[in-house]
Amino acid sequence: MSQQTNWVPTSVDLEKPSAARAYDYVLGGNHNFAVDRQFVEKLLLVQPEVKRFALMNRSFMRRAVLYMIDQGIRQFLDLGSGIPTVGNVHEIAQTVDRTSRVVYVDNEHVAVAHSQLILENNSNAAMVHADIAKPGLVLNDQVTRELLDFSQPIGILAITIGHYILEEHDPNGVFAAYREAVPPGSYLAVTHLTDDFTEVNELTEAMKTSQNAVLARTRSEVLSLFGDFELVEPGLVTTSQWRPERESDARTEAEDGLYAGVARKG
Ligand SMILES: C[S@@+](CC[C@H](N)C(=O)[O-])C[C@H]1O[C@@H](n2cnc3c(N)ncnc32)[C@H](O)[C@@H]1O
Repeated sequence: MSQQTNWVPTSVDLEKPSAARAYDYVLGGNHNFAVDRQFVEKLLLVQPEVKRFALMNRSFMRRAVLYMIDQGIRQFLDLGSGIPTVGNVHEIAQTVDRTSRVVYVDNEHVAVAHSQLILENNSNAAMVHADIAKPGLVLNDQVTRELLDFSQPIGILAITIGHYILEEHDPNGVFAAYREAVPPGSYLAVTHLTDDFTEVNELTEAMKTSQNAVLARTRSEVLSLFGDFELVEPGLVTTSQWRPERESDARTEAEDGLYAGVARKG
């Protein structure tokens, strides 16, 4: 892989696979390295459903953003946004209303560099390079403050990101800080890895060898991330079961592997 490519920052860690680049490879993207591809290929041999989890997750994200837009939301904070792929939040939101504003946050170098590149000419969307487990840094970042108006409702997206916040980083405290920062009428969308329906041991063990360990959580643990926000119908389900476009799109919980829900601040 050429280091001259403008999406490859010099600071990138080529020794260990990263969640962002492995996810990009699972979704068919090409912003990944041999170490990421080998990691995913090995993982798929023991846990082939990971690919379906990712596709169902991406599709949920799109429906959640469109739902929030329907409720009047025009600004989004996308936590752990990843490497831009097909159907990014600003594309979904700005297709409906081109004045929609999006702040992306990630701490992976390729995700940050590639996002900055594709957003160069988009004055309503920007990338913040930060650790989402440090909400003070994200929320007080100059870019966040310039782009988002915290007196108006905001859609917070925490899509396949909660499981990267391990217990020692106080996930409930982290989510509470984001919830408290936004005004009533705001929304929070979450997807989260769980082993309530299917064994995900191979996945969690493999992730320990990457830059991003993950923790699967139970239904009640995931519910607590929403705090006192009120879940909209159909409540906390799994990705494909959340307001599917067609009834036939809904799969079983085990096929989805990730809890999914959207909640509103009253
Ligand atoms: C599986 S990807 C999800 C991308 C996107 N949210 C989605 O669901 O399609 C997870 C992303 O979270 C990022 N991430 C993990 N821990 C993070 C942290 N503490 N701070 C910022 N980003 C983080 C990873 O770098 C990766 O890009």
